[in-house]
Amino acid sequence: MTQINVITLFPEMIENATQYGLLGQCLRNQLLSVTTLNPRTFTSDVHKTVDDRPFGGGDGMVMLAEPLKKAVLDLRAKDQLGRLVYLSPQGRAWNNQRAEEFSKERKITLVCGRYGGVDQRWINWSGAEEVSIGDYVLNGGELGALVMIESLSRFLPGALGHDQSAHHDSFHLGVLEEPQFTRPRDFEGEVAPEILFGGHHAKIQDWKASVRLLVTLAKRPDLMTSQVTPEQKRKAAGIFLLMTSAEKAVLGLSHLSEEEVLKWKA
Ligand SMILES: C[S@@+](CC[C@H](N)C(=O)[O-])C[C@H]1O[C@@H](n2cnc3c(N)ncnc32)[C@H](O)[C@@H]1O
Repeated sequence: MTQINVITLFPEMIENATQYGLLGQCLRNQLLSVTTLNPRTFTSDVHKTVDDRPFGGGDGMVMLAEPLKKAVLDLRAKDQLGRLVYLSPQGRAWNNQRAEEFSKERKITLVCGRYGGVDQRWINWSGAEEVSIGDYVLNGGELGALVMIESLSRFLPGALGHDQSAHHDSFHLGVLEEPQFTRPRDFEGEVAPEILFGGHHAKIQDWKASVRLLVTLAKRPDLMTSQVTPEQKRKAAGIFLLMTSAEKAVLGLSHLSEEEVLKWKA
């Protein structure tokens, strides 16, 4: 079981949001355990102070190093600390690959800042690695912690049920997932691709693999990695060149130029 501790001034945000859907199931099935610690518990004054004005002036308040240090020491004493992360807009970017890597950890502690952030000396003292969930500034680290928890939980064995795997999702091996279709077969005049109804499993899988490459080329060419072979690209180009404009439209590939795809033919 993976143990995740979240140090936060708003434990309810974490406790409530982890109850739903597949993540809630992960917790109930004990694939994952999420516990919270409130830095206020580790204060020693009557007001339970966790922040103070920044030295040198400036906007907002800064979280005190001492309660955060005590929270970390408490977890360390119980041998519960594990990999220590401070959620920060200045951190290394989070992505699906890192989610998979973190899913292999047995214990993780996520520290959520609030206000203007935390005293730099706590970051230095703790040696926490800084993780950012994107180039924007949130009011606190809790949403970031939830993003980390949910995305890594998808890689835990058994988390998605028997027939699903996070390895079929977008971003795995640098490609996006193919478009998905369900009933009705015809929606507003757009008909789901014919091949999906042929019942030929191997052919469908082959076609899906090529469509994944084409969708990635159309939407996020920057993701494509060297793990995609020239042979796979040639196959995808061949499929694209045989598509009708209605098929391209239903797959969201209308704007992908033949010229672009023909480079894969060479
Ligand atoms: C208002 S922010 C502080 C931002 C800080 N003054 C700065 O400019 O770097 C408060 C807290 O939200 C969290 N946070 C904000 N944006 C984040 C992001 N993009 N990724 C992860 N955590 C973030 C951090 O824990 C941070 O301490």
